[in-house]
Amino acid sequence: MTLRISVIGTSYLGSTLAAGMAEFGHQVIGVDIVPEVVKQLNAGQPHIFENGLEQLLEQHTATGRLRFTLDYDDIADWADVHFLALGTPARADGSADLSQLHAAIGSLAPKLTRPTLIVGRSTVPVGTAIDLQQRIRALAPAGDAVELAWQPEFLRESMAVTDTLRPDRLVFGVQSDQALRLLEQVYAIPLTEETPVITCDLATAELIKQAANTFLATKISFINAMAQLCQVAGGDVTVLADALGLDKRIGREHLSPGLGFGGGCFPKDIRALAVRADELGVDVLSDLIKSVEAINDTQRVELAELAIDQVGGDATGKKVAVLGAAFKPGTDDTRNSPALTVADHLHDRGAIVEVYDPQAHLAQRDGFTQVGSVAEAVRNADIVLHLTEWPEFRYLDPEQLGTLVNNKIIIDGRLKLHAPTWHEAGWKLVQIGRASTL
Ligand code: UGA
Repeated sequence: MTLRISVIGTSYLGSTLAAGMAEFGHQVIGVDIVPEVVKQLNAGQPHIFENGLEQLLEQHTATGRLRFTLDYDDIADWADVHFLALGTPARADGSADLSQLHAAIGSLAPKLTRPTLIVGRSTVPVGTAIDLQQRIRALAPAGDAVELAWQPEFLRESMAVTDTLRPDRLVFGVQSDQALRLLEQVYAIPLTEETPVITCDLATAELIKQAANTFLATKISFINAMAQLCQVAGGDVTVLADALGLDKRIGREHLSPGLGFGGGCFPKDIRALAVRADELGVDVLSDLIKSVEAINDTQRVELAELAIDQVGGDATGKKVAVLGAAFKPGTDDTRNSPALTVADHLHDRGAIVEVYDPQAHLAQRDGFTQVGSVAEAVRNADIVLHLTEWPEFRYLDPEQLGTLVNNKIIIDGRLKLHAPTWHEAGWKLVQIGRASTL
Protein backbone atom coordinates (compact mmCIF):
# COMPACT_ATOMS: atom_id res chain seq x y z
CA MET A 1 0.00 0.00 0.00
CA THR A 2 1.36 3.41 -0.98
CA LEU A 3 1.65 5.83 1.92
CA ARG A 4 2.35 9.54 1.96
CA ILE A 5 5.57 10.12 3.83
CA SER A 6 7.47 13.23 4.83
CA VAL A 7 11.12 13.18 5.84
CA ILE A 8 12.23 16.23 7.80
CA GLY A 9 15.97 16.84 7.46
CA THR A 10 18.00 15.85 4.39
CA SER A 11 21.55 15.07 5.48
CA TYR A 12 23.12 11.60 5.14
CA LEU A 13 20.23 10.03 7.01
CA GLY A 14 17.34 12.13 5.68
CA SER A 15 18.17 12.25 1.99
CA THR A 16 18.87 8.51 1.92
CA LEU A 17 15.71 7.77 3.90
CA ALA A 18 13.58 9.92 1.57
CA ALA A 19 15.02 8.21 -1.51
CA GLY A 20 14.63 4.78 0.13
CA MET A 21 10.98 5.44 1.01
CA ALA A 22 10.32 6.36 -2.64
CA GLU A 23 12.06 3.13 -3.68
CA PHE A 24 9.69 1.23 -1.35
CA GLY A 25 6.86 2.67 -3.48
CA HIS A 26 5.68 5.49 -1.22
CA GLN A 27 4.90 9.07 -2.16
CA VAL A 28 7.57 11.16 -0.43
CA ILE A 29 8.28 14.80 0.37
CA GLY A 30 11.57 15.75 2.02
CA VAL A 31 11.87 18.99 3.97
CA ASP A 32 14.89 21.15 4.61
CA ILE A 33 15.48 24.74 5.66
CA VAL A 34 18.30 25.46 3.20
CA PRO A 35 16.94 26.66 -0.19
CA GLU A 36 20.02 25.58 -2.22
CA VAL A 37 19.84 22.06 -0.76
CA VAL A 38 16.15 21.74 -1.65
CA LYS A 39 16.83 23.03 -5.15
CA GLN A 40 19.70 20.61 -5.69
CA LEU A 41 17.76 17.62 -4.37
CA ASN A 42 14.76 18.50 -6.56
CA ALA A 43 17.14 18.39 -9.52
CA GLY A 44 17.96 14.80 -8.48
CA GLN A 45 21.44 15.74 -7.25
CA PRO A 46 22.66 14.73 -3.80
CA HIS A 47 24.47 17.41 -1.79
CA ILE A 48 26.61 14.75 -0.11
CA PHE A 49 28.58 11.81 -1.53
CA GLU A 50 26.89 8.50 -0.79
CA ASN A 51 27.15 5.37 -2.96
CA GLY A 52 24.00 4.81 -5.05
CA LEU A 53 22.13 7.85 -3.75
CA GLU A 54 22.36 9.92 -6.91
CA GLN A 55 20.80 7.16 -8.97
CA LEU A 56 17.82 6.79 -6.59
CA LEU A 57 17.28 10.55 -6.38
CA GLU A 58 17.41 10.95 -10.15
CA GLN A 59 15.03 8.07 -10.67
CA HIS A 60 12.39 9.10 -8.13
CA THR A 61 12.45 12.88 -8.62
CA ALA A 62 11.94 12.16 -12.33
CA THR A 63 8.84 10.03 -11.72
CA GLY A 64 7.42 12.63 -9.31
CA ARG A 65 7.30 10.13 -6.43
CA LEU A 66 9.88 12.17 -4.56
CA ARG A 67 10.21 15.90 -4.12
CA PHE A 68 11.68 18.33 -1.62
CA THR A 69 10.27 21.48 -0.10
CA LEU A 70 11.03 24.31 2.30
CA ASP A 71 7.38 24.63 3.28
CA TYR A 72 5.84 22.69 6.19
CA ASP A 73 2.37 23.49 4.78
CA ASP A 74 3.16 21.02 1.97
CA ILE A 75 3.53 18.12 4.39
CA ALA A 76 1.66 18.82 7.63
CA ASP A 77 -1.77 17.34 6.95
CA TRP A 78 -0.69 15.65 3.73
CA ALA A 79 1.54 12.93 5.21
CA ASP A 80 0.41 9.69 6.88
CA VAL A 81 3.79 9.46 8.58
CA HIS A 82 6.38 12.15 9.33
CA PHE A 83 9.98 11.03 9.86
CA LEU A 84 12.28 13.22 11.94
CA ALA A 85 15.78 12.79 10.48
CA LEU A 86 17.58 15.72 12.05
CA GLY A 87 21.06 16.05 13.45
CA THR A 88 21.71 15.90 17.19
CA PRO A 89 25.23 17.33 17.39
CA ALA A 90 27.21 17.58 20.61
CA ARG A 91 26.98 20.65 22.81
CA ALA A 92 30.11 21.98 24.48
CA ASP A 93 29.51 19.76 27.54
CA GLY A 94 29.10 16.66 25.35
CA SER A 95 25.33 16.37 25.80
CA ALA A 96 23.13 16.09 22.70
CA ASP A 97 21.94 19.36 21.18
CA LEU A 98 18.26 18.75 20.40
CA SER A 99 17.59 22.21 18.97
CA GLN A 100 17.09 20.97 15.38
CA LEU A 101 14.43 18.53 16.60
CA HIS A 102 12.77 21.24 18.69
CA ALA A 103 12.77 23.67 15.75
CA ALA A 104 11.24 21.10 13.38
CA ILE A 105 8.53 20.27 15.89
CA GLY A 106 7.88 23.98 16.39
CA SER A 107 7.30 24.33 12.64
CA LEU A 108 5.31 21.13 12.12
CA ALA A 109 3.16 20.60 15.19
CA PRO A 110 1.01 23.79 15.03
CA LYS A 111 -0.06 22.69 11.54
CA LEU A 112 -1.21 19.18 12.51
CA THR A 113 -5.00 19.09 12.55
CA ARG A 114 -5.61 15.36 12.03
CA PRO A 115 -4.41 12.11 13.65
CA THR A 116 -0.78 11.61 12.61
CA LEU A 117 2.21 9.42 13.38
CA ILE A 118 5.58 11.09 13.81
CA VAL A 119 8.58 8.75 13.84
CA GLY A 120 11.89 9.90 15.32
CA ARG A 121 15.02 8.54 13.62
CA SER A 122 17.72 10.73 15.18
CA THR A 123 20.03 9.41 17.89
CA VAL A 124 18.83 10.91 21.18
CA PRO A 125 19.37 10.49 24.92
CA VAL A 126 16.88 8.26 26.70
CA GLY A 127 13.81 10.24 27.75
CA THR A 128 13.84 12.54 24.73
CA ALA A 129 10.95 10.94 22.83
CA ILE A 130 8.43 11.26 25.67
CA ASP A 131 9.43 14.88 26.15
CA LEU A 132 9.07 15.59 22.43
CA GLN A 133 5.65 13.97 22.37
CA GLN A 134 4.49 16.29 25.15
CA ARG A 135 5.79 19.30 23.23
CA ILE A 136 4.07 18.16 20.02
CA ARG A 137 0.73 17.50 21.70
CA ALA A 138 0.82 20.88 23.42
CA LEU A 139 1.35 22.64 20.08
CA ALA A 140 -0.79 20.56 17.70
CA PRO A 141 -4.48 21.38 17.11
CA ALA A 142 -4.95 17.58 16.83
CA GLY A 143 -3.54 17.25 20.39
CA ASP A 144 -3.38 13.68 21.70
CA ALA A 145 -4.31 12.31 18.29
CA VAL A 146 -0.68 12.91 17.30
CA GLU A 147 1.53 10.00 18.35
CA LEU A 148 5.29 9.74 18.45
CA ALA A 149 7.18 6.52 17.74
CA TRP A 150 10.96 6.03 17.80
CA GLN A 151 12.78 3.97 15.21
CA PRO A 152 16.55 4.15 15.64
CA GLU A 153 18.64 4.26 12.51
CA PHE A 154 21.57 1.90 11.99
CA LEU A 155 22.82 2.96 8.57
CA ARG A 156 26.52 3.35 7.94
CA GLU A 157 27.79 6.21 5.83
CA SER A 158 29.10 4.86 2.51
CA MET A 159 26.61 1.98 2.80
CA ALA A 160 23.58 4.15 3.59
CA VAL A 161 21.48 3.17 0.57
CA THR A 162 22.01 -0.56 1.04
CA ASP A 163 21.41 -0.31 4.79
CA THR A 164 18.17 1.64 4.18
CA LEU A 165 16.80 -0.71 1.54
CA ARG A 166 17.96 -3.89 3.27
CA PRO A 167 18.23 -3.17 7.00
CA ASP A 168 19.62 -5.97 9.17
CA ARG A 169 16.93 -5.28 11.76
CA LEU A 170 14.08 -2.87 12.41
CA VAL A 171 13.47 -1.50 15.88
CA PHE A 172 10.01 -0.04 16.42
CA GLY A 173 9.58 1.90 19.67
CA VAL A 174 5.81 2.33 19.79
CA GLN A 175 3.02 3.12 22.22
CA SER A 176 0.04 1.67 20.33
CA ASP A 177 -0.96 -1.13 17.98
CA GLN A 178 -2.07 1.48 15.49
CA ALA A 179 1.44 2.95 15.29
CA LEU A 180 2.92 -0.53 14.89
CA ARG A 181 0.51 -1.41 12.04
CA LEU A 182 1.39 1.82 10.24
CA LEU A 183 5.13 1.16 10.56
CA GLU A 184 4.56 -2.35 9.20
CA GLN A 185 2.93 -0.77 6.14
CA VAL A 186 5.81 1.66 5.72
CA TYR A 187 8.30 -1.22 5.83
CA ALA A 188 6.14 -3.77 3.98
CA ILE A 189 8.96 -4.54 1.51
CA PRO A 190 11.79 -5.29 3.98
CA LEU A 191 9.29 -7.14 6.15
CA THR A 192 8.42 -9.50 3.30
CA GLU A 193 12.17 -10.21 3.11
CA GLU A 194 11.99 -11.43 6.71
CA THR A 195 13.94 -8.59 8.28
CA PRO A 196 13.94 -9.19 12.04
CA VAL A 197 11.76 -6.72 13.98
CA ILE A 198 12.12 -5.71 17.60
CA THR A 199 9.06 -3.99 19.04
CA CYS A 200 9.61 -2.14 22.28
CA ASP A 201 8.86 0.98 24.30
CA LEU A 202 10.28 4.39 23.47
CA ALA A 203 13.04 4.36 26.09
CA THR A 204 14.35 0.97 24.97
CA ALA A 205 14.33 2.09 21.34
CA GLU A 206 16.36 5.19 22.21
CA LEU A 207 18.82 3.14 24.24
CA ILE A 208 19.27 0.39 21.64
CA LYS A 209 20.84 2.89 19.26
CA GLN A 210 23.20 4.42 21.79
CA ALA A 211 24.14 0.99 23.10
CA ALA A 212 24.86 -0.32 19.58
CA ASN A 213 27.19 2.57 18.76
CA THR A 214 28.87 2.41 22.15
CA PHE A 215 29.42 -1.32 21.85
CA LEU A 216 30.96 -0.96 18.39
CA ALA A 217 33.19 1.91 19.57
CA THR A 218 34.24 -0.25 22.54
CA LYS A 219 35.22 -3.06 20.18
CA ILE A 220 37.42 -0.65 18.21
CA SER A 221 39.07 0.76 21.33
CA PHE A 222 39.58 -2.73 22.71
CA ILE A 223 41.49 -3.85 19.63
CA ASN A 224 43.45 -0.59 19.63
CA ALA A 225 44.44 -1.14 23.26
CA MET A 226 45.60 -4.61 22.20
CA ALA A 227 47.52 -2.93 19.35
CA GLN A 228 49.36 -0.82 21.91
CA LEU A 229 50.20 -3.97 23.84
CA CYS A 230 51.36 -5.77 20.70
CA GLN A 231 53.61 -2.88 19.88
CA VAL A 232 55.55 -3.25 23.11
CA ALA A 233 55.18 -7.00 23.56
CA GLY A 234 56.05 -8.02 20.01
CA GLY A 235 52.74 -9.38 18.71
CA ASP A 236 50.83 -8.74 15.50
CA VAL A 237 47.47 -7.13 16.17
CA THR A 238 45.90 -7.97 12.81
CA VAL A 239 46.57 -11.68 13.28
CA LEU A 240 45.14 -11.32 16.79
CA ALA A 241 42.01 -9.59 15.43
CA ASP A 242 41.54 -12.27 12.77
CA ALA A 243 41.76 -15.00 15.40
CA LEU A 244 39.34 -13.25 17.76
CA GLY A 245 36.95 -12.58 14.89
CA LEU A 246 36.64 -16.27 14.10
CA ASP A 247 34.92 -16.74 17.44
CA LYS A 248 31.29 -16.21 16.40
CA ARG A 249 30.52 -14.68 19.79
CA ILE A 250 33.02 -11.92 19.04
CA GLY A 251 32.94 -11.51 15.23
CA ARG A 252 35.52 -9.70 13.06
CA GLU A 253 33.39 -6.60 12.27
CA HIS A 254 34.59 -3.37 13.90
CA LEU A 255 37.70 -5.09 15.13
CA SER A 256 40.08 -3.46 12.66
CA PRO A 257 42.90 -1.76 14.53
CA GLY A 258 44.50 1.51 13.58
CA LEU A 259 43.73 5.16 14.00
CA GLY A 260 40.40 4.55 15.69
CA PHE A 261 36.93 5.89 15.15
CA GLY A 262 35.70 9.28 14.04
CA GLY A 263 32.76 10.68 12.11
CA GLY A 264 29.51 12.36 12.96
CA CYS A 265 28.17 9.46 15.05
CA PHE A 266 30.39 7.37 17.35
CA PRO A 267 32.29 10.21 19.06
CA LYS A 268 29.21 12.31 19.78
CA ASP A 269 26.87 9.41 20.55
CA ILE A 270 29.09 7.73 23.10
CA ARG A 271 29.83 11.10 24.77
CA ALA A 272 26.10 11.86 24.96
CA LEU A 273 25.47 8.44 26.53
CA ALA A 274 28.23 9.08 29.07
CA VAL A 275 26.71 12.45 29.98
CA ARG A 276 23.23 10.92 30.35
CA ALA A 277 24.61 8.00 32.39
CA ASP A 278 26.31 10.52 34.69
CA GLU A 279 23.09 12.51 35.04
CA LEU A 280 21.27 9.32 36.03
CA GLY A 281 24.02 8.26 38.45
CA VAL A 282 25.23 5.25 36.44
CA ASP A 283 28.94 6.03 36.78
CA VAL A 284 30.12 2.57 35.79
CA LEU A 285 28.88 3.18 32.26
CA SER A 286 30.33 6.66 31.93
CA ASP A 287 33.67 5.36 33.29
CA LEU A 288 33.71 2.62 30.65
CA ILE A 289 32.97 5.16 27.91
CA LYS A 290 35.70 7.50 29.16
CA SER A 291 38.24 4.68 28.75
CA VAL A 292 36.97 3.98 25.23
CA GLU A 293 37.42 7.66 24.38
CA ALA A 294 40.85 7.88 25.99
CA ILE A 295 42.14 4.93 23.95
CA ASN A 296 40.69 6.46 20.79
CA ASP A 297 42.32 9.83 21.44
CA THR A 298 45.65 8.18 22.19
CA GLN A 299 45.77 6.45 18.80
CA ARG A 300 45.75 9.80 16.99
CA VAL A 301 48.39 11.42 19.17
CA GLU A 302 50.64 8.34 19.11
CA LEU A 303 50.56 8.20 15.34
CA ALA A 304 51.49 11.86 15.02
CA GLU A 305 54.33 11.42 17.54
CA LEU A 306 55.52 8.29 15.73
CA ALA A 307 55.70 10.33 12.52
CA ILE A 308 57.78 12.99 14.28
CA ASP A 309 60.15 10.30 15.61
CA GLN A 310 60.54 8.90 12.10
CA VAL A 311 61.63 12.26 10.71
CA GLY A 312 64.30 12.67 13.38
CA GLY A 313 62.37 14.03 16.35
CA ASP A 314 61.60 17.49 15.00
CA ALA A 315 58.80 18.13 12.49
CA THR A 316 59.72 21.75 11.82
CA GLY A 317 59.85 22.38 8.08
CA LYS A 318 59.41 18.69 7.27
CA LYS A 319 57.03 17.86 4.44
CA VAL A 320 54.34 15.39 5.47
CA ALA A 321 52.06 13.76 2.87
CA VAL A 322 48.70 12.72 4.33
CA LEU A 323 46.71 10.19 2.32
CA GLY A 324 43.05 10.43 3.33
CA ALA A 325 40.95 13.13 4.98
CA ALA A 326 37.49 11.54 5.23
CA PHE A 327 36.76 9.85 8.57
CA LYS A 328 36.53 6.55 6.71
CA PRO A 329 36.63 5.43 3.06
CA GLY A 330 33.55 5.71 0.84
CA THR A 331 32.40 9.07 2.15
CA ASP A 332 33.24 12.76 1.79
CA ASP A 333 32.49 13.33 5.48
CA THR A 334 35.39 14.78 7.47
CA ARG A 335 33.59 15.31 10.77
CA ASN A 336 35.88 14.29 13.62
CA SER A 337 38.24 12.68 11.15
CA PRO A 338 41.21 10.91 12.75
CA ALA A 339 43.29 11.75 9.66
CA LEU A 340 42.71 15.47 10.11
CA THR A 341 43.52 15.37 13.83
CA VAL A 342 46.88 13.87 12.93
CA ALA A 343 47.38 16.46 10.17
CA ASP A 344 46.53 19.28 12.61
CA HIS A 345 48.90 17.91 15.25
CA LEU A 346 51.79 17.75 12.79
CA HIS A 347 51.06 21.19 11.46
CA ASP A 348 51.06 22.52 15.01
CA ARG A 349 54.50 20.97 15.42
CA GLY A 350 55.84 22.91 12.45
CA ALA A 351 55.42 20.42 9.60
CA ILE A 352 54.34 21.38 6.06
CA VAL A 353 51.31 19.14 5.58
CA GLU A 354 49.72 18.28 2.23
CA VAL A 355 46.56 16.20 2.20
CA TYR A 356 44.98 14.18 -0.59
CA ASP A 357 41.54 12.55 -0.44
CA PRO A 358 39.56 11.13 -3.37
CA GLN A 359 36.22 12.59 -2.21
CA ALA A 360 36.45 14.93 0.75
CA HIS A 361 36.69 18.64 0.07
CA LEU A 362 38.25 20.48 2.94
CA ALA A 363 37.03 23.89 3.87
CA GLN A 364 39.80 26.46 3.88
CA ARG A 365 41.99 25.22 6.71
CA ASP A 366 44.68 27.20 8.35
CA GLY A 367 47.99 25.58 7.97
CA PHE A 368 47.70 22.71 5.60
CA THR A 369 46.90 22.33 1.97
CA GLN A 370 44.63 19.96 0.12
CA VAL A 371 46.09 18.72 -3.17
CA GLY A 372 44.49 16.98 -6.14
CA SER A 373 46.53 13.78 -6.41
CA VAL A 374 48.65 11.31 -4.49
CA ALA A 375 51.64 12.32 -6.61
CA GLU A 376 51.29 15.98 -5.62
CA ALA A 377 50.94 15.08 -1.96
CA VAL A 378 54.00 12.85 -1.82
CA ARG A 379 56.33 14.93 -4.01
CA ASN A 380 59.43 15.74 -1.89
CA ALA A 381 57.72 14.34 1.22
CA ASP A 382 59.90 13.49 4.20
CA ILE A 383 57.25 11.03 5.34
CA VAL A 384 53.97 9.64 3.95
CA LEU A 385 51.02 8.85 6.24
CA HIS A 386 48.26 6.46 5.15
CA LEU A 387 45.38 7.54 7.37
CA THR A 388 42.09 6.69 5.60
CA GLU A 389 42.02 3.31 3.90
CA TRP A 390 40.56 4.19 0.49
CA PRO A 391 40.90 1.07 -1.70
CA GLU A 392 42.95 2.99 -4.28
CA PHE A 393 45.69 3.55 -1.70
CA ARG A 394 46.08 -0.20 -1.32
CA TYR A 395 47.06 -0.43 -4.98
CA LEU A 396 49.60 2.40 -5.04
CA ASP A 397 52.85 1.56 -6.76
CA PRO A 398 55.62 1.92 -4.14
CA GLU A 399 58.32 1.81 -6.85
CA GLN A 400 56.85 4.82 -8.62
CA LEU A 401 56.08 6.75 -5.41
CA GLY A 402 59.63 6.09 -4.29
CA THR A 403 60.90 8.25 -7.15
CA LEU A 404 58.90 11.25 -5.89
CA VAL A 405 59.62 11.39 -2.16
CA ASN A 406 62.57 12.67 -0.17
CA ASN A 407 62.49 9.72 2.22
CA LYS A 408 60.92 6.35 1.59
CA ILE A 409 59.12 6.21 4.93
CA ILE A 410 55.41 5.48 5.21
CA ILE A 411 53.25 4.97 8.31
CA ASP A 412 50.23 2.80 7.66
CA GLY A 413 47.70 4.05 10.21
CA ARG A 414 45.05 1.59 9.04
CA LEU A 415 47.17 -1.57 8.69
CA LYS A 416 45.89 -2.15 5.19
CA LEU A 417 49.05 -1.84 3.07
CA HIS A 418 50.90 -4.96 1.95
CA ALA A 419 54.13 -4.65 3.89
CA PRO A 420 56.32 -7.02 1.76
CA THR A 421 55.54 -5.06 -1.45
CA TRP A 422 56.61 -1.79 0.17
CA HIS A 423 59.70 -3.33 1.72
CA GLU A 424 60.76 -4.82 -1.62
CA ALA A 425 60.57 -1.33 -3.15
CA GLY A 426 62.97 -0.09 -0.48
CA TRP A 427 60.46 1.62 1.81
CA LYS A 428 60.40 1.66 5.55
CA LEU A 429 56.76 0.85 6.28
CA VAL A 430 55.62 1.27 9.88
CA GLN A 431 52.32 -0.20 11.01
CA ILE A 432 50.96 0.73 14.42
CA GLY A 433 50.26 -2.45 16.35
CA ARG A 434 52.87 -4.49 14.50
CA ALA A 435 56.04 -4.44 16.51
CA SER A 436 58.00 -6.08 13.70
CA THR A 437 57.65 -2.99 11.52
CA LEU A 438 58.80 -0.45 14.11
C1 UGA B 1 28.07 4.16 12.65
C2 UGA B 1 27.41 2.79 12.87
O1 UGA B 1 28.24 1.77 12.31
C3 UGA B 1 26.02 2.75 12.24
O2 UGA B 1 25.38 1.50 12.54
C4 UGA B 1 25.19 3.89 12.81
O3 UGA B 1 23.89 3.93 12.23
C5 UGA B 1 25.90 5.21 12.51
O4 UGA B 1 27.20 5.19 13.14
C6 UGA B 1 25.07 6.32 13.10
O5 UGA B 1 24.94 6.41 14.32
O6 UGA B 1 24.43 7.06 12.32
P1 UGA B 1 29.40 5.28 10.62
O7 UGA B 1 29.76 6.37 11.58
O8 UGA B 1 28.91 5.63 9.26
O9 UGA B 1 28.27 4.32 11.25
O10 UGA B 1 30.72 4.43 10.39
P2 UGA B 1 31.37 3.04 10.82
O11 UGA B 1 31.58 2.25 9.59
O12 UGA B 1 30.72 2.40 11.96
O13 UGA B 1 32.82 3.58 11.27
C7 UGA B 1 32.95 4.53 12.33
C8 UGA B 1 34.40 4.83 12.58
O14 UGA B 1 35.07 3.70 13.15
C9 UGA B 1 35.22 5.18 11.34
O15 UGA B 1 36.10 6.25 11.65
C10 UGA B 1 36.01 3.93 11.03
O16 UGA B 1 37.21 4.18 10.35
C11 UGA B 1 36.25 3.39 12.42
N1 UGA B 1 36.43 1.93 12.46
C12 UGA B 1 35.44 1.11 12.06
C13 UGA B 1 37.61 1.40 12.95
O17 UGA B 1 38.55 2.13 13.35
N2 UGA B 1 37.76 0.05 13.02
C14 UGA B 1 36.78 -0.80 12.61
O18 UGA B 1 36.97 -2.03 12.72
C15 UGA B 1 35.59 -0.25 12.12
